[in-house]
Amino acid sequence: MKRTKLKVKNLSSSYSVIIGRNILSQISNQIKILCPGAEKVALIVDKNVPNKFKIKLKKYLKKYTVYTFEYSVNEKFKSFINVNKLVENCLANNFNRNDVLISLGGGILGDYSAFAASIIKRGINFINIPTTLLAQVDSSIGGKTGVNSMLGKNLIGTFYQPKVVISDVEILKSLPKRELVCGYAEVLKHSLILNTNFFNWLKNNSKHLLVNTDLNFLKKAIIESCKIKIHFVNKDVYEKNIRMILNFGHTFAHAIEAQNNYSKRINHGEAVIMGMMMAAKLSYIKKLCSLKTLNQLKQIYSINNLKYDIKKYFKKNEYNKIANYMCADKKNNDRKINFILLKKIGLTTQPNMCKISSTELKKVFNKII
Ligand SMILES: NC(=O)c1ccc[n+]([C@@H]2O[C@H](COP(=O)([O-])OP(=O)(O)OC[C@H]3O[C@@H](n4cnc5c(N)ncnc54)[C@H](O)[C@@H]3O)[C@@H](O)[C@H]2O)c1
Repeated sequence: MKRTKLKVKNLSSSYSVIIGRNILSQISNQIKILCPGAEKVALIVDKNVPNKFKIKLKKYLKKYTVYTFEYSVNEKFKSFINVNKLVENCLANNFNRNDVLISLGGGILGDYSAFAASIIKRGINFINIPTTLLAQVDSSIGGKTGVNSMLGKNLIGTFYQPKVVISDVEILKSLPKRELVCGYAEVLKHSLILNTNFFNWLKNNSKHLLVNTDLNFLKKAIIESCKIKIHFVNKDVYEKNIRMILNFGHTFAHAIEAQNNYSKRINHGEAVIMGMMMAAKLSYIKKLCSLKTLNQLKQIYSINNLKYDIKKYFKKNEYNKIANYMCADKKNNDRKINFILLKKIGLTTQPNMCKISSTELKKVFNKII
């Protein structure tokens, strides 16, 4: 399978996203070129990544002194306290800015490791090897790092770019179906916000991604998805404006995750699935999109059996709490909630154009769930 190299290039950074199969061997050359002074590597690994990839990676890193940190992850793991432990450990082992921190894991481990890398001695080299579909299509690109706070999701963090992202599609073979669906949520989001042709392709080919997973189809979906993410990140790296479009569905999703106390009952991608449908219904109520558009979305959800009914997870008295969490979202810049809503497949509203008070949201909440 051919390797594809996409370039993230904006005023503050420039790095490659390399996508292909069996490409872990790339790591040695990439470190040699991008981090020439490196002597030590902190290898942060997710316990659920199959051992053969960890062994391979260590083989390719044999020139360096490798310190391995292996973790079982969940949203509660993504905390300031845990980052501090890793930071102290790297400092105790005399890591300096020439050295490298590598994340081999999904979005949780990537956000956590990148945040640690960004604050160790004000920033050491960071390389991301994403191992979930969600991380390959979304979280590994764009430089958002961070951990959760008691007050909400991803509220503590930095913008810090990796030196390179190496996405090996082969690693996704061991991914549980539930996690594949979560990554698919972000793939679908990318098509919804920018690319009707990609949405139509997904409508016809999702079975090759989710049912009989075919790595060639998966690779195409990853490449198309990454191109869309890169399109927004390149225009607005610090999320001052246009990049906020990538948050379609996420204002709801983050509040759902907070109300769910970040438990495994609903994971990030599942919350995004719920959040995108809620945002689409709100778009329809606000007369921003047609019933046809809403039905196109419902159809692709139904073909792929995507579950969006939040009534199954929350009691009625929790809806107000979800709305309250939404008021704390980072994208709000005044007391109103800042939504990205859908105009049609492939097109959303612009950032800061749809602000809704929590009172108004609470009034329509029953209609959008
Ligand atoms: N930084 C960003 O821009 C950004 C964007 C989107 C999401 N995120 C964050 O990403 C996180 C979600 O990421 P995720 O969905 O990858 O979750 P995750 O990191 O929890 O991974 C999902 C599960 O898959 C397991 N796993 C990982 N790789 C595996 C493999 N190859 N084989 C088998 N199991 C494997 C993990 O152990 C975990 O149980 C959330 O915290 C979210 O906030 C960040």
